[in-house]
Amino acid sequence: MSKQILLTGHVLKTTGDPFADADAVQIHAGHGVLIEGNHIAATGPADRLRAQAPQAEVHDHANRLILPGFVDAHVHYPQTAIIASWGKRLIDWLNTYTFPEESRFGDTDYAARVSGDYLDLALAHGTTTMCSFATIHPASVDAFFEAAAARDMRVVAGKTCMDRNAPDTLRDTAQSAYDDSKALLTRWHGTGRAHYAITPRFSPTSTPEQLEALGALWAEHPDCLMQTHLSEQVDEIAWVRDLYPQARDYLDTYEARGLLGAHGVYGHAIHMEPREIDRLAEVGAAVVHCPTSNTFIGSGLMDLAGLAARGIAIGLATDTGGGSSFSMLRTMAAAYEIGQLRGTPLHARHLLWLATAGSARSLHLHDRIGTLAAGYEADICVLDLASTPAIAQRAANVSDIWEAVFATIMMGDDRAVAQVWVNGRVVT
Ligand code: GUN
Ligand code: ZN
Repeated sequence: MSKQILLTGHVLKTTGDPFADADAVQIHAGHGVLIEGNHIAATGPADRLRAQAPQAEVHDHANRLILPGFVDAHVHYPQTAIIASWGKRLIDWLNTYTFPEESRFGDTDYAARVSGDYLDLALAHGTTTMCSFATIHPASVDAFFEAAAARDMRVVAGKTCMDRNAPDTLRDTAQSAYDDSKALLTRWHGTGRAHYAITPRFSPTSTPEQLEALGALWAEHPDCLMQTHLSEQVDEIAWVRDLYPQARDYLDTYEARGLLGAHGVYGHAIHMEPREIDRLAEVGAAVVHCPTSNTFIGSGLMDLAGLAARGIAIGLATDTGGGSSFSMLRTMAAAYEIGQLRGTPLHARHLLWLATAGSARSLHLHDRIGTLAAGYEADICVLDLASTPAIAQRAANVSDIWEAVFATIMMGDDRAVAQVWVNGRVVT
């Protein structure tokens, strides 16, 4: 039998979507998670698990919160080194900071170094899975998947495709985007814990021919995800209207070319027309909320409550490096604040679910990760609910566990991450 490990403490238990049923997310004191090999073998009262597995190596986390590793549903790992760049909105930010940095990923060693640096930062913040854009360089995809495999992490990534409105050094063609994406997908999708996402950056940097070619590739590989950006800033939407005069709206630039479907993951989705919302709901596509990015780049306030009420799958993401933090705690705090500005504050149970099972669902990984239950992979984060003096004094003055958890969500960062497990092995 594989080695058994028992983590005990407060355990986050998820049985469904809290936007449909608030009782679907609970915290149980004095519970545990029993790990066998790479998987969770059982969860339940700590005493019962101790009796069930008397040989297990026990990690008693007492008052800490044991939850699934965070799932960051939209990042750009190549933007790690330009996070927190000052003073530009989306298109100027891309041209001023992002594209020059992404040009450096033609250098394979640089891509390997940033991949490792980014993944180590993510793990230190409790994030065990992410869905990342690479750059146009195929080697930037290889570097990321290789670094993730070395850390045994379940990750999603894809080659970013752009054949116009980008510097020469960052342009492919419709044909090379198809060919390179297909070769990468064949190499990586389903290899170990890797998943491939077909990745047109966004409609302004692809010709209609490139979007069509990637739509054709997706039709050949419908089990792959397709990730892109949608309706992030008002100026961007006006630009899309100019570039695609026939389109009914932004989403239609994708839809008309085979890039709308249940495995589609659309980042930002802030300024949407009713038709776009209807279509996303009808096809079962996912949108990703990137709250620190949406405030940092000045994009706007996504209507998370409205989209959730329509039954649209929603992931939560840092959008590294448009977002201003690697931390899903900071990201949950920003989601809360945006909810407040819209008059729809989210409870801690909604925030934790979005950062774990909700994001996993948006990436179609919810049968493997994002939930602590028997049969799931043992990707786990343990949070210290008194990680700084400021948080500790608040946590000492709570009437229930949710109040303490909320204080860590609002005030916490990587100092709150006490332990991280990836595929059954402790990494921090
Ligand atoms: N839209 C197209 N590319 C990007 C990007 O890199 N970051 C963000 N936030 N939006 C985008
Ligand atoms: Zn993005």
